[in-house]
Amino acid sequence: MSFAPTKTVKIFMLQNYEQKYIIFIDNSNRCMEKMKILNLYAGIGGNRKLWEGHEVTAIESDWNILNVYRQLFPEDTILCTDAHQYLLDHHKEYDFIWSSPPCPTHSRASTSLKGWGIVRYPDMALYQEIIFLKHFFKGKWVVENVIPYYEPLIKPTATLDRHHFWSNFPIGDFEVKRDYNVNRTTKEMLTTHHGIELPEGTKDARKLLRNAVYPPLGLHIINQI
Ligand SMILES: C[S@@+](CC[C@H](N)C(=O)[O-])C[C@H]1O[C@@H](n2cnc3c(N)ncnc32)[C@H](O)[C@@H]1O
Repeated sequence: MSFAPTKTVKIFMLQNYEQKYIIFIDNSNRCMEKMKILNLYAGIGGNRKLWEGHEVTAIESDWNILNVYRQLFPEDTILCTDAHQYLLDHHKEYDFIWSSPPCPTHSRASTSLKGWGIVRYPDMALYQEIIFLKHFFKGKWVVENVIPYYEPLIKPTATLDRHHFWSNFPIGDFEVKRDYNVNRTTKEMLTTHHGIELPEGTKDARKLLRNAVYPPLGLHIINQI
């Protein structure tokens, strides 16, 4: 049977009724297995933007941000709650887990804050989640964070663009071409580069876009599974 490439994802068949695998053809004409995905610390879903054909549950603790996510991905299940606790309580319900714990306490900017009298501990939730997923989660997983100001306590699986990724599957190279500094650029530049049009009046739009993973990179990673 041959499948024509299409813009919208088509679910073609139930391959194995006992195991309930659903196989579909994505926009790049790849044969994919439909997964139940948990998207932790969802933000505006930069990492998730190009995932198609999967069942996604997004967890975000900021209701305003979640409301933006809801408008961008109306088909996803969304929950406004603590992602760290949700992971512990619900990991068994998913095939693939992506986690993007908050980066401010790990980022290189932390060192310059010292000059302003701001000192803080790096948030160990990042490493708690990596260790937890590695030892207790049976599916595929990836944890994303910024390249920190210190030597990472656990060696990342891959370093791509501005991020370290820890995962239980290999992640190949991916080049992100951009000719601007993400931390200094405008909302408009980020909108164009990410291809994410935020709803009119979105609060802190520039910051939300700056925090987002470049969508083709999120797609590249899910395609490695
Ligand atoms: C780095 S951003 C996520 C970016 C996202 N992966 C993307 O590509 O667009 C981290 C998000 O986690 C949210 N957050 C912080 N602490 C949280 C918590 N305990 N539970 C759920 N969400 C949280 C923040 O509001 C922020 O939107």
